Amino acid sequence: MHHKVIIEPFRIKTVEPIYMSSEAERTAYLKKAYNNLFLLESRKVIIDLLTDSGTSAMSAEQWAGIMRGDESYAGARSWERMRDAVQDLTGYPYIIPTHQGRAGESILYSQLGGEGKVFISNTHFDTTRANIEYSGAKAIDCLTEEGRQPSLEHPFKGNIDIKQLEEEIVKHGAEHIGAVILTVTNNSGGGQPVSMQNAKDVKAICDKYHVLFLLDCCRIAENAYFIAKREAAYKDISYRAIAQEMFSLADGAVMSAKKDALVNMGGFIALKSKEIAEMCTNPLIIKEGFVTYGGLSGRDMEALAIGLEEVFDKDYLHYRIVSTTYLGDKLNDLGVPTVRPIGGHAVYVDAKVFYNHIPVDQFPGQALVCDLYLKGGIRACEIGSVMFGKTDEDGNLIPSPMELVRLAIPRRVYTQSHMDYVAETFAELIKEKNNSQGVKIVQEPEYLRHFTAHFERI
Ligand code: F0G
Repeated sequence: MHHKVIIEPFRIKTVEPIYMSSEAERTAYLKKAYNNLFLLESRKVIIDLLTDSGTSAMSAEQWAGIMRGDESYAGARSWERMRDAVQDLTGYPYIIPTHQGRAGESILYSQLGGEGKVFISNTHFDTTRANIEYSGAKAIDCLTEEGRQPSLEHPFKGNIDIKQLEEEIVKHGAEHIGAVILTVTNNSGGGQPVSMQNAKDVKAICDKYHVLFLLDCCRIAENAYFIAKREAAYKDISYRAIAQEMFSLADGAVMSAKKDALVNMGGFIALKSKEIAEMCTNPLIIKEGFVTYGGLSGRDMEALAIGLEEVFDKDYLHYRIVSTTYLGDKLNDLGVPTVRPIGGHAVYVDAKVFYNHIPVDQFPGQALVCDLYLKGGIRACEIGSVMFGKTDEDGNLIPSPMELVRLAIPRRVYTQSHMDYVAETFAELIKEKNNSQGVKIVQEPEYLRHFTAHFERI
């Protein structure tokens, strides 16, 4: 029989109770957190969709690996396991362990970057951009036109614009390009995938101009799933082989293992070039730790090696992408506008359309994030003018191009009924949609205000 219902392909061995707060309690909690969900204790949250990063449930095998962790300072057995797993997947000989993605970015881009250097990406993730700019270099995003239109259906909205990429290389001079970085999937652009053809085209351009080609590969297994489903030539190729082919096209990669390596902490840099790897060794030892552990415990490295295998399991990846789409489709059926098609790790709600009565300088995304919490105890993340908005000389908001709310789905953590509950919460919000009021910022720090700003409802 062909089953229509796709079930979670695992049984639950350990559970973490959720405190089922009332709406009245949440009203008080939110007030105390100044309407900023980052200032809320996690025990006051019913369903936490703040991020898919570091929030995965580990498998029984990974927990068994935790016990096997070798905590030796140098040459630990667990390091050998992690190194072998990363080499095997990427095909790159030089592996540098770090405690998370941005630590790898900091080390690599401090070496490749600096004043006068330019980096070009489909979209630099915030920490990537910050590390590049901190080195003195410039970060340029070259997303395709399709990728910039939230409601447009297109199979590969994460693709880099190849024509614009070449123009930027020529304009700045190839010798000034630090690297071209493909972010797979494109987190900031809605979790949208990059096609293999696009990666091949990037390689051709990088070869032509002798420019370094890197992958920000933290969701490469999810990206491989989309390639298998949407790029005809790959329909019979295993997800792992697809990822391996993509790695083979690039010169190196940085990974936040907190996503597709199914661990709570970890990362690495992987490189073809011995010279660049050697440049990274000093800053690694100064900032992270010795070359055989970076910032990681032996047990972390053990779990990472196992997670990197498990994530390519075909039943896992199918469940993973289908369950994200399940939530997205349910919301679309209710009339909730989202970035389309639904991406790999999150559903991105278009708050500017959903709350079209709230002007952007009253932050419709932040209003929605607050309402989702009040109504359902759901914690989501505003990705709009709170996060990216700037203020001009007259104190007016220069808004972000989009006002999105990200519902990021932790891996292997929530079941279908949790997602039904999220959809039901939206159904309730729709009924009272026009009564929702915007927010104003009453206190904000100089940088990264979304983490600590205080808001008041209007
Ligand atoms: N690159 C991408 C594409 C990311 O999504 C992240 C983190 C990083 C790099 C940095 O990795 O957190 O391990 O230092 N994204 C998280 C998120 C924070 O919620 O999307 P990290």
